[in-house]
Amino acid sequence: MDQDALKKQAAEAALSYVEGGVVGVGTGSTVNHFIDFLATIKGRIDGAVSSSEVSTERMKAHGIPVMDLNAAGELALYVDGADESNHRLQLIKGGGGALTREKIVAGASERFVCIADESKLVDVLGAFPLPVEVIPMARSHVARELVKLGGTPVWREGFVTDNGNVILDVQGLQITEPVALEQQINNLAGVVTVGIFALRPADVLILGSATGPRTVT
Ligand code: A5P
Repeated sequence: MDQDALKKQAAEAALSYVEGGVVGVGTGSTVNHFIDFLATIKGRIDGAVSSSEVSTERMKAHGIPVMDLNAAGELALYVDGADESNHRLQLIKGGGGALTREKIVAGASERFVCIADESKLVDVLGAFPLPVEVIPMARSHVARELVKLGGTPVWREGFVTDNGNVILDVQGLQITEPVALEQQINNLAGVVTVGIFALRPADVLILGSATGPRTVT
């Protein structure tokens, strides 16, 4: 099976976690499959809170009502993909640049179900360059601080987030202490969001595999 078929398999398996109400929906190619599956049961939910403009557009095209998080309140379920997960379900996210809204919706949700193909499960986070969303005027300052932490930041040139900010993708990190590094990078002036999801990890990881969906908790 190719990687996209594995993503689709994980996305379909996540449908069983939908119990009605308002569903938090992430961003990315795996989530796109989830949105398509969610549309088949849209009569059973009240709507969705979206983590990006691109997911909002896809859901609206399917006729899924998209709600504001402030109006929806706390959510029972958030479904999103990841760029990497370790065995403690701590994640790197933000490959699609939607990390800030993803972290907000994940934080506002009781249960975070992460969907991915099995290649995303790693022993140590960091082979995937760590996305950091930064206020534009702070780009060079934050980049210098990230070098002091042992990384090699690369400006994602030409890309602007839904919040009007820029992304630095940090190469060369071996993230053995995800909570500590998340806090440390969060504390740099000018950083909006770091793509480490360890303070609020996933609760369930569904991995698409050649032998069928595998659930890690
Ligand atoms: C979006 O900003 C990311 O956090 C995605 O959730 C992550 O990049 C996974 O994307 P894919 O599902 O496309 O692999």
